[in-house]
Amino acid sequence: MFKATNLHKSYFVDGNPVRALRGVSFTINKGDVYTLLGPSGCGKTTMLRCIAGLETPDQGEITLQDKVLFSSRTGESEATYRRNLGMVFQSYAIWPHMNVFDNVAFPLYYGGRKHSKQEIKDFVKKALQSVELEGFESRSATLLSGGQQQRVALARALVYQPSIFLLDEPLSNLDARLRDEVRQELKELVKRLNLTVLYVTHDQVEALSLSDRIAVMRDGLIVQEGTPSEIYLTPQETFVGTFVGKANLIQGVLVEKDGAMCRVKTDLGLLQGATSGVPVQKGDSVVVLIRPNIITAVTQKPAAETNVLEAELVDSTFTGALTECQTMCGNVAIEAQIAGLIQFKVKEKIYLQFPPELCRILPAKA
Ligand SMILES: Nc1ncnc2c1ncn2[C@@H]1O[C@H](COP(=O)(O)OP(=O)(O)O)[C@@H](O)[C@H]1O
Ligand SMILES: [Mg+2]
Repeated sequence: MFKATNLHKSYFVDGNPVRALRGVSFTINKGDVYTLLGPSGCGKTTMLRCIAGLETPDQGEITLQDKVLFSSRTGESEATYRRNLGMVFQSYAIWPHMNVFDNVAFPLYYGGRKHSKQEIKDFVKKALQSVELEGFESRSATLLSGGQQQRVALARALVYQPSIFLLDEPLSNLDARLRDEVRQELKELVKRLNLTVLYVTHDQVEALSLSDRIAVMRDGLIVQEGTPSEIYLTPQETFVGTFVGKANLIQGVLVEKDGAMCRVKTDLGLLQGATSGVPVQKGDSVVVLIRPNIITAVTQKPAAETNVLEAELVDSTFTGALTECQTMCGNVAIEAQIAGLIQFKVKEKIYLQFPPELCRILPAKA
């Protein structure tokens, strides 16, 4: 088990503090992929660098399987090479002047332990087997595809058999098509070898598809933690809701509350939705979050009274599996994703409908 407790880290730029981490705590269970998801600059890389011992936190504690890696309280700080971590950082690309074998063997030559030539050979072989690159030992690293290079970087992290892997945006240098492929490979590999991984990304698709748990970060803090479906379906604030997927946000005032179900007075009339445990009360300013993919559109007025909006289609884009529809409800723009091809045209009057139990009621940001 890995544990980070109340980590703080500030940098000083021209004498002014930049508070990169403002009290971050989380726990990773063995065999889990735990992802820090957040926009650029929110502190993800700083977190990994603190864990790796490449930065010294101002405050906090980091433990790995009951071994203290860092503690501001006791002053303990383990050297990087003794922390038993595997790292795949964007900036730790493989070395172009070395062949695959030497790239993968590198940590064994320069790590904290001494190894015999035969041991090194065996470890490298095993690591290359894991990433299905056996037989590529003498190939120059530059003669590999982007995906294969990424696998070499992974093998280099694996060779040491570390307790935890730190992956910082490992797919961000790959082009879009390759990224999907390598992401799938990575997912399979991680599960097959039962690796414990701390994954860092700003890409919500990567986070949702790879992770057992996700921590969404903003401005040096974790704002919500949970499984991918919890994060996507029950965001606790609009920042999380909009960061992990497309969302329509409609402002309003909460006028009635019955358990989790709420009625909200908006410019578009009364809308119904459910809270996901966030404390909102009658009279509060709230936001109704409606994901485009829960909306259905029809040309005949539906019988249902609630959560039906009259709209005009402004633009539509057919993308194969679905059609992205830009609509206007009065002067409020609403985006809907309709399965398949739509049966209506631009400027046509349509009705949008969305189930109350899938609409989220969130506190309006002050
Ligand atoms: N070496 C540094 N010196 C000064 N500021 C830094 C340094 N590294 C990061 N920062 C600042 O700390 C904040 C967090 O950065 P970082 O951890 O790299 O974020 P992320 O990886 O989420 O994009 C940013 O405001 C960034 O500009
Ligand atoms: Mg970063």
